Amino acid sequence: MTPTSTTPTTRRDFLGKSAVTAGALTVAQSAWAAGSDQIKVGLIGSGGRGSGAANQALSTKQEGVVLHAICDAFKEKAEGALSNLRTKHADKVKVDDSRIFAGLDGYKKVIDSCDLVILTTPPGFRPYHFEAAINAGKHVFMEKPVAVDAPGVRKVIEMAKVADEKNLKVVVGLQRRYQNCYLDALKQVKEQNIIGDIVSGQVYWNGGGIWFRDKQPGQSELMYQINNWYFFTWLCGDHINEQHIHNIDVANWFIGGHPESAQGMGGRMQRVDKKYGQIYDHHYVEYTYANGVRVNSQCRHQQGVYNAVREEFTGTKGKIYLNNSGACYAVDHKGNTIWKYRPSGGAAAGAEGEQKGKKSRRSGSDPDPYQVEHDTLQAAIRDNKPLNNAYYGAESTMTSVLGRMATYSGKEIKWDEAFNSKVQHMPAIVTAETEPPAKPTADGGYPVAIPGQQIPGAEVL
Ligand SMILES: NC(=O)c1ccc[n+]([C@@H]2O[C@H](COP(=O)([O-])OP(=O)(O)OC[C@H]3O[C@@H](n4cnc5c(N)ncnc54)[C@H](O)[C@@H]3O)[C@@H](O)[C@H]2O)c1
Repeated sequence: MTPTSTTPTTRRDFLGKSAVTAGALTVAQSAWAAGSDQIKVGLIGSGGRGSGAANQALSTKQEGVVLHAICDAFKEKAEGALSNLRTKHADKVKVDDSRIFAGLDGYKKVIDSCDLVILTTPPGFRPYHFEAAINAGKHVFMEKPVAVDAPGVRKVIEMAKVADEKNLKVVVGLQRRYQNCYLDALKQVKEQNIIGDIVSGQVYWNGGGIWFRDKQPGQSELMYQINNWYFFTWLCGDHINEQHIHNIDVANWFIGGHPESAQGMGGRMQRVDKKYGQIYDHHYVEYTYANGVRVNSQCRHQQGVYNAVREEFTGTKGKIYLNNSGACYAVDHKGNTIWKYRPSGGAAAGAEGEQKGKKSRRSGSDPDPYQVEHDTLQAAIRDNKPLNNAYYGAESTMTSVLGRMATYSGKEIKWDEAFNSKVQHMPAIVTAETEPPAKPTADGGYPVAIPGQQIPGAEVL
């Protein structure tokens, strides 16, 4: 029950997916397909998720997978991650000191020396690291979101086509697409038609907030922003993009396409101190899909308020409730339960949404979707099967960015207008000498978008 490919062909036009020629398919062969017994993994961005993803890459059942090179913007983070990985996988961590790279160009050296790269820096860098990896003919696991702005999304789509032409495999860390409860729910909706046609939905990522990293003595403004990346649009894309993309992606996936327009509202109410960069602490967006299907999206970083991380869809025959705890179920319009997710070998998780069954990201004996991502990727490389999640990763990233454009501007924005936007928050090349795109303001803060106004340094479209 794992997804193997990309995006329904109905969306081929938007994505501009090219037909892959037979000749192009022979361009690249994986290390395994070419008869090598080893696959060298490289980690680019060795923070929390990078360490987790590298651990998962080394925890598959495949023989011959080794961690070969590592980099981080900060040397101590690369060394810290490596030390933890050595503790767990002493026999698979083969990173010579000469292959521990620090700084903003370390990614090039990791890409050069490895077969499969894990891209887990802040998302702003993703399109350009993905471009370098695909141009170099490497397989990719990359975390969501895959960009922070429309030019970045377009770059990812352009490189996704090149990945297809080179027969490279790409997985994007939208792990709900690899999670059994979501896959079963999708089958119920699409194949069994249990709720009929979807007419509306609600998606939520309302949580208490995120870490903050203070400026260190002697640290440049650029390196401060990169370390404290969450609070800067050019690096993070705001939390509607960074976290809420998971739920927005579920909406696109279940509805089978991207919205046609969005309008919304948002701002900073609790997290108002100037030190908190540019991002909002809440966004509400009304997305309109084809045939007037509406999805309401909420995400919030506030304390002492209603929290929820989940999705629900209303159809002509009933409603389905989804939650990554495994508490997924459907009811008809009279409230009768018509489906409840039952994990393999385990009891069904709590059935009333996020309050129950909260203990883990999976339920019963279901596999960990974070692990399934790497199992699937390595199996596709070994068996030379098509696998490229970059198209839907780009589409859902664009949907989140569209939402942010709507909340930052306060205007209704059409998909095409957003997708073709020239506003590029993230420079394609960032070196230690680059001026940080977010310029500190005279009052000690940073430019923050205000709906209905043009704020220099916080351009929207
Ligand atoms: N799928 C999921 O559930 C999930 C969960 C957590 C994070 N993520 C994603 O993973 C990514 C990383 O998040 P995180 O929580 O690990 O953040 P983090 O801050 O812990 O790690 C990011 C690391 O990248 C490094 N870095 C920054 N710029 C770099 C560059 N140019 N080259 C090399 N290294 C660089 C940082 O120093 C840091 O160590 C984000 O895109 C985030 O959205 C996904």
